[in-house]
Amino acid sequence: MDVQEHAEELGLDTRRDLQGVYRYYELAKRAEWQVRDLPWGDIPPIPEYSGPPQKLARRRDLWRSVITQQLQADELAVEMATQLFSIAPDREAKLYYTTMVQDESRHTEAWLQLIEEAGGMAERDPYLDQLAHMTLDADTLEEKVFLMQVFYERLIIPRFRMIARSSRGTVLEDLCNRLAIDDGIHHGAGMAYERVLLEGAGRKVQTRLIDAANRLLPLFAKHALWRPKAREFIGALMRETDIRMLHDDIENGVRLANSLGLDVGDIQLPV
Ligand SMILES: [Fe+2]
Ligand SMILES: [Fe+2]
Repeated sequence: MDVQEHAEELGLDTRRDLQGVYRYYELAKRAEWQVRDLPWGDIPPIPEYSGPPQKLARRRDLWRSVITQQLQADELAVEMATQLFSIAPDREAKLYYTTMVQDESRHTEAWLQLIEEAGGMAERDPYLDQLAHMTLDADTLEEKVFLMQVFYERLIIPRFRMIARSSRGTVLEDLCNRLAIDDGIHHGAGMAYERVLLEGAGRKVQTRLIDAANRLLPLFAKHALWRPKAREFIGALMRETDIRMLHDDIENGVRLANSLGLDVGDIQLPV
């Protein structure tokens, strides 16, 4: 029996194209992994260096800071996934969101263990908390799916690849590679669902969504350019890269919105 027949047998809605979302439910279950599958104890948790103690301490603080930001993001992702699960009206989407809540919880669990092994939490990014709250407080499901799954989950993937590239042979690299795959699924499922949601939505819903995304941009820029104390010394070096990535992210967001049939119009770049 194929996925479509199986879904029909369960009495799921096959008229609207919720099949696409249902397929991600099946895919997510197959892709599930456990925190114990990571190579804990076999390889170092984070990159190891040699040199004077001061340099080693500074490097360690840098990695603690990187991990703290990811832990913070995944803790917030659990909240968002839980909210999506509870407000999504479609059965297929609800089934799918059960896997996303699970995924984000396991991501958080893995980061918690990793931050422990790396020497403990560092400074939180205040703008990330604000961004998450704006998303949690967004008025419509269309806005939430757009911000969380279409936008954030897409832009985090190249970040994971970047962290993995600079932490070869560590648990951190292994975890980032897994998260890049998981967030690829989260993003794909969000695109599939957003398409269905927007099909039935009027012009008003679209305009509200675009307004909400535009309101969020200045805060998003602050988050993208924020540097914790532990990474201030590379801040100046990284600022150009940060600005370039911010522009890429926004361009990507516009492209994704267009592909969903949204007319974004003029976007004011905050930087
Ligand atoms: Fe995650
Ligand atoms: Fe995710």
